[in-house]
Amino acid sequence: MSEATSPSVLIVGASRGLGHAMAAEFAARGWRVLGTVRGEGTPLHALAVARPGQVEIENLEMTDHGQMLALRERLAGRGFEVAFVNAGVANDNPGATLADVSAEDFVRVMTVNVLGAMRAVEAFGGLVRPGGVIGVMSSGQGSIANNANGTNDVYRVSKAALNQAMASYAGRHADGPAMVLLAPGWIRTDMGGAGAPFGVEEAMPQIVDTLIAQRGRPGLRYLDRFGTPVPW
Ligand SMILES: NC(=O)c1ccc[n+]([C@@H]2O[C@H](COP(=O)([O-])OP(=O)(O)OC[C@H]3O[C@@H](n4cnc5c(N)ncnc54)[C@H](OP(=O)(O)O)[C@@H]3O)[C@@H](O)[C@H]2O)c1
Repeated sequence: MSEATSPSVLIVGASRGLGHAMAAEFAARGWRVLGTVRGEGTPLHALAVARPGQVEIENLEMTDHGQMLALRERLAGRGFEVAFVNAGVANDNPGATLADVSAEDFVRVMTVNVLGAMRAVEAFGGLVRPGGVIGVMSSGQGSIANNANGTNDVYRVSKAALNQAMASYAGRHADGPAMVLLAPGWIRTDMGGAGAPFGVEEAMPQIVDTLIAQRGRPGLRYLDRFGTPVPW
């Protein structure tokens, strides 16, 4: 595959963790990658050095709408087979209920996981080429149907709200490309922690396989990393 004809992916939040692993996996498959970061010296920067000409980096703070619109302007005229919004945060004390969490921490999580993520979908979704895929990193914890034990309240609320907002976006873009809310499973990253059962090396090829398999299949799906539907 020549560089000119190879497909391309935009990953919002690709500095480290799952976003960086996704960038590395797409790059290893010959895709051109544009990843966003905050700051310098991230693992994505190392990937860009290792794969010159294949990995491009832009800066984006998800909570800065002006930055996001400016990046959208810079990308005008570009097209991507896949645009994936990965960036997300958890609240400081995962055990906190909505009675316990500080309003500040609640707003921080919702601002990144819902407002920032959906503004990124709104800003960059239109750059996806016909037949392509808009992906958003949700979580199995966004499932209301599967919430039997009531842990991680704040994070769950944020991902359920993200799912709902994405359903609205899909409703407004019924003629749009494939759209995926991805539940990756519990993966060892800074957020997932050392006790998570799966490593990124194992999980990411499955995630990328599932994303690529959605090409040419319009409509919104909430899927785990194997492509199995997650109950809403
Ligand atoms: N790991 C899991 O088990 C798991 C399970 C289900 C869902 N997820 C979801 O998967 C996604 C990635 O998680 P992860 O485990 O890779 O977490 P991580 O290692 O903590 O990485 C989080 C990523 O989000 C970026 N980010 C956070 N806040 C941002 C902001 N305000 N503006 C721009 N970028 C921001 C970070 O950038 P910086 O490096 O600049 O901070 C980093 O690239 C998240 O949406 C998370 O909710 C993870």
